Parts: sequence; C-alpha cells; structure tokens
Amino acid sequence: MGFILKGIFGLALAFLGYLFYAKLCKVPEVPHFPEDTWWGKSEPVKEDTSIKPFKINVSKEILDDLKHRLDIALPMQPPLNGVGQHYGMNSNLLQKIVNHWKNKYNWSERQKFLNQYPQYTTQIQGLDIHFLHVKPKVDKASNVKVLPLMLLHGWPGSVREFYEVIPLLTKPQKGRNVVFEVIIPSLPGYGFSEATNKPGMNAARMAQIFKKLMDRLGHKKFYVQGGDWGSSVATYLTILYPASLFGTHLNFCLCLSNMCSLKLWLLGSTFPSLIATEEEIPLFTPVGEKWFTDKMLESGYLHIQATKPDTVGTALRESPVGLAAYIIEKFTTWTNPEWKDLEDGGLTRKFTYDQLLDNVMIYWVTRSITTSQRLYSEQFNHKFRALGFDNIPTPAEVPIGCANFKHEIVQQPESLLRLKYLNLQHTNSYNDGGHFAAFELPDMFSNDIYEFVEKINDK
Ligand SMILES: *[C@@H]1O[C@H](CO)[C@@H](O)[C@H](O)[C@H]1NC(C)=O
Ligand SMILES: *[C@@H]1O[C@H](CO)[C@@H](O)[C@H](O)[C@H]1NC(C)=O
Repeated sequence: MGFILKGIFGLALAFLGYLFYAKLCKVPEVPHFPEDTWWGKSEPVKEDTSIKPFKINVSKEILDDLKHRLDIALPMQPPLNGVGQHYGMNSNLLQKIVNHWKNKYNWSERQKFLNQYPQYTTQIQGLDIHFLHVKPKVDKASNVKVLPLMLLHGWPGSVREFYEVIPLLTKPQKGRNVVFEVIIPSLPGYGFSEATNKPGMNAARMAQIFKKLMDRLGHKKFYVQGGDWGSSVATYLTILYPASLFGTHLNFCLCLSNMCSLKLWLLGSTFPSLIATEEEIPLFTPVGEKWFTDKMLESGYLHIQATKPDTVGTALRESPVGLAAYIIEKFTTWTNPEWKDLEDGGLTRKFTYDQLLDNVMIYWVTRSITTSQRLYSEQFNHKFRALGFDNIPTPAEVPIGCANFKHEIVQQPESLLRLKYLNLQHTNSYNDGGHFAAFELPDMFSNDIYEFVEKINDK
C-alpha cells in the first residue's frame, strides 16, 4: 500500500472508531421526572404529609388462611437423586422448612420481633410508604457525630435484611466517631409499602419518592446505602439529587448497562490484564463459556419477571409453599453458588429458618410478590431503557464506596467501576459473604459503612 493510501485508510479507521465510540459511549442528559406524578389508586387529592406510627398486625383471617393452605398443600414432587439444588429448590429441603413453618415458627413472637423498631408510614405521591426509623442514643458530652443514613433493600429481600445490622449502626461503636440515624423504607410495592396501579414505577421513580421521604424527615442531606435493587435506587438518587448526598455506599457496584464499559468488559474477558489487576482477574474470569453459562443458569427468574411478572405472580400469591421455594432458593445460590451442591442448600450455615421465613412472611401477608416482581418489567422495558439512564455516571461531587463480597453474583474490576462511579473513594473486597451481606454478615457490613463514612467525614 502506498504511503497516501495508508494514511487515508488510517484516517478512515480513526473516524469510524470515533463514530463507534460517540454512539456507544455517549452520556445522555439526566432525565427529568415530573415531581407531581400521582401513583395512588385514588384520584389525585391533596397529599396527607403526616407521618403515622405503624405496627405490623396481621389479621386472624390472613393467619388462618395461611395455616389452612399449609395444611392442604399437596405432597411435594420428590427431587432427583443427589442433585442438591441444581434443579431449583430441593423439595426435601423445602419440606423441612415448611415443617418448621407449620410447627415451630411462631408468628406472634416473630411479629413482636419485627415490631421491635419504630416504624411509620407516610403518603408520598399518593402511595403509603412504610419505613423503619431508628435514632441513636448518644451521650451529649461525647463527640460522636450522628449522621442520617438510608438503607435500601432489593428483591427478594425486605427491610428484614437489616434487623441484625440496625443495632450496630445505631449504637455508638468503640473507636468510631460517627453513628447513624437509620431510615429503612420498604420499596413501593414491596412488603408494607403500597403498590401503584399505574405502569412506570421504576427504580429511578423510587429514588424520587425516597428523596421526598428524607426531605419530609428533615434530612436535606444524607448518606444512602443499597444492595441489589437498593443499589440501583441509591445510584439513581445520587445522579438525580447529588446535592442531597454526603455519600453513597453500595454492596452491588455495577457498570453493566453502559455499552462503553460492556465492550471493555468483553475485551477484558479475552485480555483480562488490560482492565483488571492480578487479584481481580479471578473475580470475573474465566469469562468464557463457563462464566456465561453460570450467569444464564442463575438469571431465568430475571427474564420471567422482566417480561411476564403477573403470570408467575399469580401462582406465587396462591401458594405459600411455592412462594417459600421461589424466595428461599435465592438465599442458597446467591449466598454461595457452591451450596447448590448441598442437599440442605447450606442455608443454616448463615441463616436460621426463622430469619428466612420472616422475609417470606413479609411477602405473604402483604400479598406483594407480584407487585415486587413488576420492578423488573419497569426497569427493562424499552421506554425506560431509551432514557439511557444507565449510561450516566454518578457525579464527581458524591463520594462512592463499594463493598464487594466474595460470592456477589456479578463482579467487575475497579477500572470498570470507575467509569460509572466518578468519585470512587472506597473499595473493599471481602473473602466471605454473598448477595445478602447485611443479613449474612452484619458486623463486616456495618464496619465497611463506618470505614467509608469516616473517610469522608474526617476530610
Ligand atoms: C392488633 O389489632 C388487634 C385488633 O384491632 C388489637 O387487639 C391488637 O392489640 C393489635 N396488636 C398489635 C400488636 O398492635
Ligand atoms: C407462641 O409464642 C407465644 C409468646 O411467646 C406463646 O404464648 C404461644 O404459646 C406460642 N404459640 C405456640 C403455638 O407455641
């Protein structure tokens, strides 16, 4: 090739590369959502902004009905021999849990347990939003600073995931100079927060609701923490209202939807050393066939819920046994994928059946499984994706902390996370734990939050 031809060829390639980059890596404007969208089932009325104390108090009808359904449940389909949890929840294990539910799980005690922290509801954009609100007792003479912190759960979790971590965050800890006033809402359509009857309640709209909740509680600026969907809601909060946040702590840091990073990730799967440090490489490799097969095996639920949440929801609303299987299965495989090999699903290594059933009960007694699953459809539909929201990084003014637990279901190297979180101030990788870190390892989880917040607060 002649010199000139080479030059032209090179320029054309560079131009194509630029077009490719500009198209895929373009950062869209931050979407604007109307502040007054009315999500309530009634016609819009003047909002009742009062904050009402709330106690869980499940009616006798609901409890008698549950008992009846557990009593008449059909005999389970026996599992295949020696398959652990590889065909889904093993019915021998499920039977054990259901027996515990029927014979040992004592709702009047569990309800008392669940009511141990102050709870409230307040109406926001037409929906009654439920939240726990726990304030620390701090000796006035001490120089421990109280900071507001919102904790956000995901699916198939609930506020229950945080019960063990609440005392660790709200009681002054030795050697720590901060402590938290925690606000823990149920996501709209989850547990005791009302569901909308209108399409469009995605994680960004939830962020808008929770910003209003914090405003109403007098916290113009606060910390937010989230895992699973809670991590998405916290990220949207950060992008939509950066001036309201001291910092954002996540235990599910992801830069997945950004096409730009996805390309890099794929590149990294072939040439890992281009994007990851030596320690990080085992986290997301071998990306080849095994990695994708593993993710495919674990994401069928997501495809169903992102497309037809109501259909599967109907079955789960009818059957407490089915609901328990569907929810608790996630607490085996997402806590440790190797537990799929175990007949007992490994569950009791990290949880008690009471803890797991508390969470199932929150879905059962509120009849909220279908509405909880709709979040996937609201998030993965064309309309929301067309906003390109996931291509917007968190703004540089908000410090971000990422805690990465060993068995988290998707993990990425820091070089990719930095494309999403422009001010990533804190990253820790733990050699233990999985997707439900607050529930599973409350000490490690709370320590990571303290470390992150002290880093920022001491500056
Ligand atoms: C639940 O409601 C019933 C009937 O209204 C009432 O008698 C009972 O004290 C309530 N229990 C709790 C824990 O609030
Ligand atoms: C459940 O716990 C309560 C309070 O501890 C107790 O009074 C009641 O007998 C228990 N119910 C059963 C069925 O064990």
